[in-house]
Amino acid sequence: MAMNALELKKAAAAKAVEFVQDGMKLGIGTGSTANEFIRVLAERVRDGLSVVGVATSVRSEQLCRELGIPVASLDDVPGLDLDVDGADEIGPHMALIKGGGGALLREKIVAFASTRMLVIADSSKLVNALGAFPLPIEVNPFGLAATKLAIVEVTKSLGLSGNISLRQENNKPFVTDGGHFILDASFGRISDPEALSEALFSIPGVVEHGLFLNLAKKSVVAMTNGEIKVLDEADF
Ligand code: A5P
Repeated sequence: MAMNALELKKAAAAKAVEFVQDGMKLGIGTGSTANEFIRVLAERVRDGLSVVGVATSVRSEQLCRELGIPVASLDDVPGLDLDVDGADEIGPHMALIKGGGGALLREKIVAFASTRMLVIADSSKLVNALGAFPLPIEVNPFGLAATKLAIVEVTKSLGLSGNISLRQENNKPFVTDGGHFILDASFGRISDPEALSEALFSIPGVVEHGLFLNLAKKSVVAMTNGEIKVLDEADF
């Protein structure tokens, strides 16, 4: 029988926790799938597993604390063994779009500080090319209009265009944990993510973007029929 979205997230989370070993320093992701991972991890911690987590957002850290998972800052624990996080899209070579939940900057810092990044998702996140999901671009509020214009210009030279909208929450600009804004860019198919990444980083007002390239090497993906696939970078 086909599983619903929440059941798929729980199934991926339950498989991912098998990669966690006693004593590990963990990066802990953000989003609805990562929340399921936090819940399963908390059960293991209650059973005696010893880990310390560095959360990628204030809300993930709160959930960890509520459920009794020991947390630390990345300054206390600057090197992590394993980062477990969700994704908005998983594309070829395990290139990702992340940031639908607005935590992309901390997510990328934590992923980069981790020896391994494990992505957890349901099969709806697997795509043949990135870009159907609007790309989140975290920007400094200072000079927002100029930064947006610059994004339009540099991406035009790559043949990309589309609506770029300032993310809103309660009729106000959404503010990230780092105090920045997010522009969601609906470019459509991104055929050269590396070139787009480089172009966006040429703009001073761009703090970070949601293309996660060469960071994830493994994904745990729950298929609608209940099968759990563990994909390596080379598999997809
Ligand atoms: C948070 O900023 C995102 O990068 C999430 O990891 C991503 O949006 C996946 O979230 P869901 O698990 O809720 O789909």
